[in-house]
Amino acid sequence: MSKQEIVLSDNLGDDLSRLLANRSLDDIFILCDEKTYSLCLPYLLDSYDRLRSCPVCVIGAGDAHKHVDTLSDVWMFLSEKGATRKSLLLNLGGGMVTDLGGFAASTFKRGMSYINIPTTLLGAVDAAIGGKNGVNFNGLKNEIGVINSSDAVIIDTRFFSTLDYSNRVSGFAEMLKHGLISSYDEWNKLVSFDRERFDLMELKGLIGRSIAVKERIVEKDPYEKNIRKALNFGHTFGHAFETVSHEKKTPALHGYAVAWGIISELYISHVLLGFPKPVLRQAVSIIRETYGSLNISCDDYDRIHGLMLHDKKNDEKGEINFTLLSDIGQIQINQHVNANLINESLDFYRDSVGL
Ligand code: GLY
Repeated sequence: MSKQEIVLSDNLGDDLSRLLANRSLDDIFILCDEKTYSLCLPYLLDSYDRLRSCPVCVIGAGDAHKHVDTLSDVWMFLSEKGATRKSLLLNLGGGMVTDLGGFAASTFKRGMSYINIPTTLLGAVDAAIGGKNGVNFNGLKNEIGVINSSDAVIIDTRFFSTLDYSNRVSGFAEMLKHGLISSYDEWNKLVSFDRERFDLMELKGLIGRSIAVKERIVEKDPYEKNIRKALNFGHTFGHAFETVSHEKKTPALHGYAVAWGIISELYISHVLLGFPKPVLRQAVSIIRETYGSLNISCDDYDRIHGLMLHDKKNDEKGEINFTLLSDIGQIQINQHVNANLINESLDFYRDSVGL
């Protein structure tokens, strides 16, 4: 997989112009959803005049639209507007737009170039980076897709000023994960960030560092054969919590579910691998304060276990594949955990968040 250029932009127009200069592109197409069409596209077009005449494809917003029917609409748009293998797709949006747009571009005429311009913090620090893209299928998240990286990712933190508190802290959860899988230095910087004030200038520095953590890992193992599994920390429980939250009709944003998943997975890390208790306590207190809780009871344990057993990250049938930590930055992939400890970690989660 070719390396993607990641630009932490101070001037979106200049950066686009530099990235597109000297490339033999025939046409540029823009993909956005209904929200980014009204909130973000005007700023993008104002930043770079060349984009004003580009065809724009607008899809529905939200995970329900991350569907093969929407994908087919995007392929149809590209086909009817005459896109070729020398065209470029600009994906302007959160993870749903960059994942779906990345897959559309990767498969249209067997692959055209694309650039991601994430408009959410979650997209900037995770979804838009590393080439994972795809759509949901048969009730399963990201079931169909490929790993194929964009030519570039351009991050302009001005887009994040329109995000509400929950979407900001949802993205911040992936940054906390990057802190835990990298170093005390990263973790301590994140812990001292004021999540209420959410200063975008200060955040920009942290975003750059957080992306560097992911980049280093993806570069070593783009196809997730080994160390890229570190990025799944918090996500084994996290994905199950996310699904359960939808089933209970109290849908949680992805980052919230990951944050709750981090509590359970740090607990297991502590019991099995001696992850330090003071850091476990510190993480629990930050997560409780910032993310509240998903209301689960013992009656939900079997469902959560069942969902984790069907996670596509598992390598062997009947075994849940966990990434755990023996300390901050000390990653242990391919860990198996017995059912009693899984239940105990759910008890710990419930105690921690006051259920
Ligand atoms: N979101 C995890 C990864 O890109 O591997």
